Amino acid sequence: MNMLEKIKYSSDYLKKMYSKKIDIAVILGTGLGSIVDEIENKVVIQYKDIPEFPTSTVQGHAGEIIIGNISGKNILAMNGRFHYYEGYHMDQVTFGVRVIKALGIDNIIITNAAGGMNPNFSAGDLMIIEDHINLTGNNPLIGHNFEELGPRFPDMSNAYTRGFVDLISKCAEDLNIKVQKGTYVAVSGPTYETPAELKMLRIIGGDAVGMSTVPEVIVASHAGMKVLGVSCITDMALPDSLEPLDHEKVMDTAEKAKVQFISLIKEVIKRI
Ligand code: HPA
Repeated sequence: MNMLEKIKYSSDYLKKMYSKKIDIAVILGTGLGSIVDEIENKVVIQYKDIPEFPTSTVQGHAGEIIIGNISGKNILAMNGRFHYYEGYHMDQVTFGVRVIKALGIDNIIITNAAGGMNPNFSAGDLMIIEDHINLTGNNPLIGHNFEELGPRFPDMSNAYTRGFVDLISKCAEDLNIKVQKGTYVAVSGPTYETPAELKMLRIIGGDAVGMSTVPEVIVASHAGMKVLGVSCITDMALPDSLEPLDHEKVMDTAEKAKVQFISLIKEVIKRI
């Protein structure tokens, strides 16, 4: 089965489960998962029940799509993403975005946890992604290009929709939530960075570093979707004062930032 057929199988199944028009999709990164509790009238669909959808092999990892209402809008949330470092092919990492597009959804909010490399940031800050650098060593569009999905050589001059950056900035101001802005560098992981790597990533223009998001943004942008990217800065990744980092620390900071993160995203959804 080729990619187009797989997308059709998955999206036809989801259309059967929910027939109304969906305004916005959100990919929930670390820290944002509990926004799911605030979705009303929800339909919850396990990835494993969706034909052709990748499934998570990690025990205890959420793997579900939730469709319902929040802030007066119909939204689709992807709770549980597929990371390149888990060994998934880029087609699997980004498959959800292609299905979202096939459902007729043109707005996508993509969130993550990231290390802060800009010395003006602090752990717990939220960063609006204005641009990215793809250092994953791969690109989800390598291989056959289906013109139905987008052009062979996609423009990336406006991958992060300017209007969304302005909108979320205004929302943050109105809610009195401090936000940073910057460039997100995507690496493959799963190792966190060495001090020498962080020095390089800062020199080349990165403000935050993480292991996700960029493949999904590339596919969304290829498909002509409007994209908003937001990082939760869970640790400061500064080469000269780098402390040992583990996943628990990342989860812990994300947990502390989640109330503000959720309020901000809900406000954006309301105003999109
Ligand atoms: N580096 C890479 N990925 C991350 C980090 C980091 O410091 N924090 C959260 N995700």
